[in-house]
Amino acid sequence: MNIVLASVIAFGLLVTACNAFCFTELPKMGQTEGCLYKDKLHRLGSKFRTNDCMDCTCHMDGKMACCQAYATPVEYDKEKCIAVFNRKACHYRVVEKRNRSKECEVLAMVG
Ligand SMILES: *[C@@H]1O[C@H](CO)[C@@H](O)[C@H](O)[C@H]1NC(C)=O
Repeated sequence: MNIVLASVIAFGLLVTACNAFCFTELPKMGQTEGCLYKDKLHRLGSKFRTNDCMDCTCHMDGKMACCQAYATPVEYDKEKCIAVFNRKACHYRVVEKRNRSKECEVLAMVG
């Protein structure tokens, strides 16, 4: 049983590692009324976006699964361009340093 569970977890990590940063958290002892994220309680069966840009699901059994809601640009012209994070939209824009209304081409994103 433990071996099966461990391999399921390992497989899950492998799958999620290449597209988004995710984690799951089991409910703590005696915590059955919802999911706790940074001291904020969320209803069982709800989905929510946190103010640090994680998309989370609170399952009926109190298990919480969260994934980063945005991708981080890693390959672009770093001489000419800059990645600007919009915290409200949970989104990166890559724009020219000299003219921020001009978008730059992004060759690769992670997350
Ligand atoms: C910045 O780029 C926009 C869109 O290409 C252009 O309309 C605008 O004139 C540019 N501004 C400056 C200061 O170069």
